[in-house]
Amino acid sequence: MTELGSDAVVERVPLILDVDTGIDDSLALLYACASPEVDLLAVTCVGGNTHARQAARNTLAVLELAGRTDVPVLLGREEPLVKPLETSAETHGPEGLGYATLPEATRPLEPGHASERIVELARARPGEVLLVTLGPLTNLAVALEREPNLPQLLGAYALMGGAYRGSGNTTPAAEWNVYVDPDAARAVFAAWAALDTSDAPRPLAMGLEVTERARLLPGHVAALARLAGAPPEDAAALARDGLQAVGSVAADPVLRFLADALRFYFEFHARYDGFYGAFVHDPFVVAAALDASLVRSNPVFVDVETGSGPAHAMTVADWRGLTRRPPNLDVVVEANADRFLEELVERLGGLAALCAGVAL
Ligand code: BDR
Ligand code: CA
Repeated sequence: MTELGSDAVVERVPLILDVDTGIDDSLALLYACASPEVDLLAVTCVGGNTHARQAARNTLAVLELAGRTDVPVLLGREEPLVKPLETSAETHGPEGLGYATLPEATRPLEPGHASERIVELARARPGEVLLVTLGPLTNLAVALEREPNLPQLLGAYALMGGAYRGSGNTTPAAEWNVYVDPDAARAVFAAWAALDTSDAPRPLAMGLEVTERARLLPGHVAALARLAGAPPEDAAALARDGLQAVGSVAADPVLRFLADALRFYFEFHARYDGFYGAFVHDPFVVAAALDASLVRSNPVFVDVETGSGPAHAMTVADWRGLTRRPPNLDVVVEANADRFLEELVERLGGLAALCAGVAL
């Protein structure tokens, strides 16, 4: 879709987000809503950080917070392909959004299945749609069963998932999104492996070795609050005393949401990762999918271990070409986390100001 700006025609990217909302997924949703170059076609939900129905409730509520009740939200598959679903209340809180409580959305989910909608949207605009998955790959695996030509129909595909050079965050071998549904990840990677490379662009895969470079800290939230119009003393209190909603922050719904959700996430990372802040995996992937200059990737063949041993759900990347299999993913090896964090602060600060009716 194109839109007339003040003096230029802006091409917008038709985007589908597949999410298991989740604190960092909620940041990714807000980032997409705050990005003028995005035409958000639909958000599809899957079980992961929380149950799929809760992820869908969270998604509707976060979009409503951002004033985006026009974006269709669809429920996907509620269980992984083979394993029983595991969720991560310890990381994201009992309902997925940390300490934040949002009013229940005023609209229902769209009828239909997430996987079917992904296929329909890709068929309707062949070669145009950008799909970004931020949770387990269950919905995409089902979509590929329904439409094996999906890789050729999509304009591009980017995913948060895996650990291609280092250790996992769920087991020593496995990253969370792949751990929840390794069979789906294996099927998705195999679908691209089966293609002639000239047929479809390879997925852009961002694993923990790059997403963990994006560390959001209280100072970033304070900067964001300043941009949203919070007085300097409130922004300073946020950076100094942590993310208790203070002063004007409590009155700005987007800022209050961010402070309450992130406080939980920051406490989790303080317990397990040694810093009061958080890795913001999911919005980093959305940003990189929209702006290729944020990352550098290398093509490589990747398979997923689905057996039950210690390497269960490991993403095994053939960096030396030992299997002689052609590459099926473009794995990100370098990423400009500082520039991304600046953009995240700027865009979410602008969105918070807009939603609070602050003139910038
Ligand atoms: C991934 O797992 C989830 O906890 C996050 O939302 C992110 O998508 C990081 O491993
Ligand atoms: Ca996620």
